[in-house]
Amino acid sequence: MKVSFISLSTLAIASIASALPTSLTARAADSCPANALSCSSTAGGSCCSPTNGLLILVQQWVQGFGPSTSFTMHGLWPDTCSGGQTGNNGCDPSRQYTNLDSILQGNSSLYNDMETYWPSYKGASNNGDFWTHEWGKHGTCVSTLAPQCYTSYTKYEDVYDYFGTALELRQKYDLYSILKGANITPGGSYSANDFESAIQSSVGVKPKVTCSGSDLEEVWIYFNVKNTNQYVPVDSVDSSTCSGDINYPTK
Ligand SMILES: *[C@@H]1O[C@H](CO)[C@@H](O)[C@H](O)[C@H]1NC(C)=O
Repeated sequence: MKVSFISLSTLAIASIASALPTSLTARAADSCPANALSCSSTAGGSCCSPTNGLLILVQQWVQGFGPSTSFTMHGLWPDTCSGGQTGNNGCDPSRQYTNLDSILQGNSSLYNDMETYWPSYKGASNNGDFWTHEWGKHGTCVSTLAPQCYTSYTKYEDVYDYFGTALELRQKYDLYSILKGANITPGGSYSANDFESAIQSSVGVKPKVTCSGSDLEEVWIYFNVKNTNQYVPVDSVDSSTCSGDINYPTK
């Protein structure tokens, strides 16, 4: 990864930033407030912090899809700071691309990870439509990824940064490992409270856990964003939907 830390003021920030897409660290720093934080008085302009500044990392557990020891991605959704959704049409009509499968093939390492960790539950032939939907509805609403926020934007860099960041967050908040650390493993049933507490004690914030009937469906982790690209977990603003025991099936 090419690196440009010069504009960042502390080593601590540089070491966090090192895990994230380089182009994001290279821009905006000189015109943004120190420690710009989304949804706060230091948020700065739309290139400094996402204006829809409450972002939700949504991971799902779908039998038959993805590695048997990994949750897979549903999305990374920028909500308004009060927790509202941004709308079905996304935020930028000029970047409503229709062919995310071929766009993502332009970045082979990313594409590889997309196929592994972001499969459509409708099957591989639907992957392109799934990714197109996630980009159009949600990706275009991450204001810091707008082309004008880059110092030298190259085509689809915004798309690669959006999906790349989401996959890095998935890896960092690896729910399978987090749960395993609390002896919660596929093939068992666990109280909703134990399940949620295991995630909360590892991540440090309250997640939202969703179920379909008694089966585990999704885990939502909420974030504010610091300095354009550092995701800071915050408590869920929504309630979990599981009650009683959660069935965590093997896959
Ligand atoms: C591919 O995507 C990754 C993840 O966002 C990014 O770090 C990398 O720079 C991209 N590579 C190219 C050639 O655009």
